[in-house]
Formats: sequence, C-alpha cells, structure tokens
Amino acid sequence: MSLLKAENITAGYGEMDILHGVHMELREGEIVALIGPNGAGKSTLMKTIFGLLRPRAGSITFDGQDITGRSPDRIVRLGICYVPQTDNVFPSLTVKENLEMGAFILNEDLSERIERVYQVFPDLKRFHTKKAGSLSGGQRQMLAMGRALMLDPKVLLLDEPSAGLAPKLVELIFEKIVDINETGVSILMVEQNAKQALKMADRGYVLATGRNRFEGTGDELLNDPQVAKLYLGG
Ligand SMILES: Nc1ncnc2c1ncn2[C@@H]1O[C@H](COP(=O)(O)OP(=O)(O)OP(=O)(O)O)[C@@H](O)[C@H]1O
Ligand SMILES: [Mg+2]
Repeated sequence: MSLLKAENITAGYGEMDILHGVHMELREGEIVALIGPNGAGKSTLMKTIFGLLRPRAGSITFDGQDITGRSPDRIVRLGICYVPQTDNVFPSLTVKENLEMGAFILNEDLSERIERVYQVFPDLKRFHTKKAGSLSGGQRQMLAMGRALMLDPKVLLLDEPSAGLAPKLVELIFEKIVDINETGVSILMVEQNAKQALKMADRGYVLATGRNRFEGTGDELLNDPQVAKLYLGG
C-alpha cells in the first residue's frame, strides 16, 4: 500500500522552478532510494515533502490523506521525520540533549525512548555526555538519525546519510538503515553512493534536472545499462 506519495510536483525557490512535475511513491515497509546528479533536485523534493517548501503544483499524500502545503511541525506529528543533508545536529548540545530535542513536542519522560535509540546506536550511549560538535562524521550522522527516531516515526526521510564518510562507515550507516527499516519504519533516502543504495533499496528513482528519468526495483536500476552508464559511474 502506498504510504507516502508525491504526484506531479512543481516546486522551487523564489521565481525559479527546480522540480518539474516529479512523482515518487513510498509503500509501507519499503526502502526507496532517490539518486541523481548534483543539483537534480533531490533535496528539494525532500524539503517539499516535509513541508519546508510549498509546491507550486502537484500533491503529497500520506496514508491516503492530502498533506500538501502542511507545515513541518504538523507533518512530524503524523509520523514523518526528516534528517537534512547538513546541519542536522545541535553542535553545542550533548548527544543526550540532542536526542531530547528530537522529542521535545512530547510532554513525557523520554528516558525509555532514549534507551531504545541507544539500542540501535550503542555508540551514542557511550558518548551521551559529549557535545555533538565534537563527534566524528559517522557519529554525528547516527545522532541525527537517532534524534529522528525519538518520535517513533512511520516514515524516515534521510538526505545523504552517508555523505562524506569513509567506506567502512558508509557500510555501517547502511546496516543501521536496514535495521531501522526492519523495525517497521519505511524509508526514503537520497544517496550519492548510488550503487550501494540501490543494492539495499526495494525501489529507486533517478532524478535529473528536476524530472523523473528512471525508476524501478533496485535490481532493475542496477542492471539497466543506461542508468549504469549515466548515473552509476559505468
Ligand atoms: N535555498 C535555495 N535557494 C535557491 N536555489 C536553491 C536553494 N537550494 C537549492 N537550490 C538550487 O536548486 C537546485 C537543486 O538543488 P538540490 O539541493 O535540490 O539538488 P540535489 O539533487 O539535492 O543536489 P546535491 O546532490 O548536490 O545535494 C540547484 O540548482 C540548487 O542550486
Ligand atoms: Mg541534496
């Protein structure tokens, strides 16, 4: 069943359109990878889905409900959490404080939720008193994901979770994403490590210059000679 659906989205900044009628669907339980060259509009699509940008045309539905144009704080309450590409932690706060910020909208004791996040990311427990700004790139990315998990989301939007990480860490982050997905969280992720992302994804979309170029199962895209040549480095 379709959980999150973007249809015919036109969106951009100021007067300029970046997305020209883009579609994307995330079904219950899936991992969907969004790939494509720099500037293709991948982050713009994520921001539009999360309500940070209002689409000029098209619609976004979640669980059959029209959520087009809703603000991020209302979207979060529906169970959609977003981890942006950059600036995704509060550097001057500790790891634990960052996690608490992830669920500040809840008026309840957060210790159980924090423990659950520590089970997914044991490193965060070890570093819980460290300032987020002093973490390594991989740890910071885990913290950003952990913070999003504090609200027990149904959908996680991850914008380049493995960006800038060494290969071993990329692998670790991808393993964590699979673990999170196995707990029942549907995941839409943008990735530059396109081959690896398609290997773990159920389906994928290739965006280029603000338009859908290719889509299919991870395997279909990996085995498509044109996709391989144009977008996967041959
Ligand atoms: N806040 C902004 N104001 C104006 N233009 C922007 C803004 N953010 C992005 N753009 C432009 O929109 C286009 C698409 O950017 P976007 O960040 O969505 O691409 P992307 O596919 O995520 O690329 P990357 O792989 O580099 O992250 C680019 O031309 C970019 O310069
Ligand atoms: Mg981007």
